[in-house]
Amino acid sequence: MKGVILAGGLGSRLMPCTKVTNKHLLPVYDKPMIYYPIMTLVNSGITDILIVTGGNHAGEFLRLLGNGKEFGLKDISYTFQEGEGGIADALKLAEHFAKDEKVFVILGDNIVEDNVKKHVDDFIRQPNGAKVFLKEVSDPKRFGVAAIKDGKIISIEEKPENPKSNLAVCGLYMYDNEVFNIAKNLKPSNRGELEITDVNNEYIGRGNMTYSILNGWWTDAGTFESLFKASCLIAAQKSK
Ligand code: DAU
Repeated sequence: MKGVILAGGLGSRLMPCTKVTNKHLLPVYDKPMIYYPIMTLVNSGITDILIVTGGNHAGEFLRLLGNGKEFGLKDISYTFQEGEGGIADALKLAEHFAKDEKVFVILGDNIVEDNVKKHVDDFIRQPNGAKVFLKEVSDPKRFGVAAIKDGKIISIEEKPENPKSNLAVCGLYMYDNEVFNIAKNLKPSNRGELEITDVNNEYIGRGNMTYSILNGWWTDAGTFESLFKASCLIAAQKSK
């Protein structure tokens, strides 16, 4: 299975900090944000990694990460997203890299406490389809929100006004190779983006989506509040 980190977008919710650098290069406590999804992949046994980035500061990723020696990697692949057409638009750029393999996709601003290797191994054994991670949150309106019935996900709504549960869909997704066909057929949402939630709902409609509840803490770091929270969580973890 291959790993894909999506680190494009403009990071407009973190302006003016993102005027002079890419969001994923900002510090989360003592490391650049992008280090955390890389560590999540490496700790789950995935060493073939593509970083999708974009914008004016894409070259800085190469300067920072090089071939990934710091993470025990032999090399890292990079690709460039023109504009910011959405998470599923960025994912489309991974098709060539994935070849025929499954992919573990992590949003570059998502940080998890738990080692998810067990879930990755489960998905490697899952014959096909997709798997998402869910986590109970107090502010579901900020996320994709899953509705569950009889132990199955029946739908996901993106940033709903009236969430059907408090189970956020985390920015860690595992897909079979069919994801690229699904992404190709998506239509832009009202906000003009190709939505990862539409990809996930397609798998749900096909009856081909499983989920796991994430252990430990999980946060994104795409707003000043969550960026600060992420730093505090890492700091607390370090002082344990
Ligand atoms: O954090 C989890 C949430 O992430 C999910 O619950 C939502 O369902 C999902 O849509 C997403 O919501 P956000 O609104 O927080 O996503 P955001 O636009 O902040 O993008 C998250 C990451 O995806 C970002 O750090 C980089 C990558 N991205 C995003 C866009 C729009 C790209 O690589 N290219 C893009 O064009």
